[in-house]
Amino acid sequence: MKVTRQKLHQLIQNKLNKAGLSEQHASMVADVLVHADARGIHSHGAVRVEYYAERISKGGTNTSPNFHFEQTGPCSGVFHGDNAAGHVAAKLAMDEAITLAQTNGIAIVGVKKIGHSGALSYFVQQAAKQGMVGISLCQSDPMAVPFGGTGVYYGTNPIAFAAQGEDDKVMTFDMATTVQAWGKILDARSRNDVIPDNWAVNEQGEPTTDPFEVKALVPLSGPKGYGLMMMVDVLSGILLGLPFGSRVSSMYNDLTEGRNLGQLHIVINPSYFTDPQTFKQNISQTMKDLNAVKPAPGVKQVLYPGQNCDINEDESNLNGIEIVDEIYQYLLSDTLYNHSYDHKDPFAH
Ligand code: NAI
Repeated sequence: MKVTRQKLHQLIQNKLNKAGLSEQHASMVADVLVHADARGIHSHGAVRVEYYAERISKGGTNTSPNFHFEQTGPCSGVFHGDNAAGHVAAKLAMDEAITLAQTNGIAIVGVKKIGHSGALSYFVQQAAKQGMVGISLCQSDPMAVPFGGTGVYYGTNPIAFAAQGEDDKVMTFDMATTVQAWGKILDARSRNDVIPDNWAVNEQGEPTTDPFEVKALVPLSGPKGYGLMMMVDVLSGILLGLPFGSRVSSMYNDLTEGRNLGQLHIVINPSYFTDPQTFKQNISQTMKDLNAVKPAPGVKQVLYPGQNCDINEDESNLNGIEIVDEIYQYLLSDTLYNHSYDHKDPFAH
């Protein structure tokens, strides 16, 4: 079914508020989830509300955090997230990074000890909308084998980038460093589908097409994605003095404890490197150039990175956001959560 942005935002905010988040924090989390659903990133939208509600209710999300921004140098800082909802801390930390980059050219801000922050595109777009280049990366719970291994070590450790062109159009790229997100395996299970043999491995570390056999995801493009997830873990974990690699907390392990995750925002002020107007023009030119490349057989048009999500968002703004009926009914209902997530093995059927 389709629902307007405003309606979806209100429903998510109400539910999270009922779970114990302040209205302000609930609204900020809803901003990020609606952004994801509107852009077609349904794995990080309203589908997560029940899990968040359970974690908030059980104390694993700090509902009255003591936020503190510590500027550690002219271009650097650490935002202490106090295990608040990651969306809230990551957003406020990005505001600090933007301010630093506006005055000092670049900013690198670590976001320390936070919960899950959702789709990173939201935060890099904050920077891009202020004329900055935004980059963000974060840790996530261990789900992927290191290249050639059988046991999990890294998370799906995503990376996002955004830069603004003319007419305020933003080019946004945002990806997990595994071939596929875990949500796609769950989707295949729910449909009793097989999966391609390059998404995941079974207990023995062998490729599997059976989504129920999955014991780990694989890095995208073998050793290259493996290297990228390592970089994300070093920059958003080790650099901030946080648990790293397989020591990163699991999403479902203990819903009463904070997750202590890390995220890193990098903001670049183009005016410190080139004429900012020319920068915008050339970002727009890049988007046009890519759209003009002759498409391969069977492809309608070459899209610039992230344009598929921009198209989804335009459609959502016009005709409403597509939401699974069950999720909508949950949001409307009085049910807060169904004890579905606590201590669940992430690979459980
Ligand atoms: P994806 O595979 O759906 O897309 C990756 C990128 O490719 C996107 O920027 C997308 O717009 C672009 N793209 C896809 N098809 C395209 C096409 N035909 N032409 C041009 N560009 C195209 O994304 P993925 O890897 O499934 O990640 C989904 C979301 O999950 C992201 O928002 C990410 O931040 C989030 N995530 C968050 C985590 C967290 O712990 N906070 C962990 C892992 C992922």
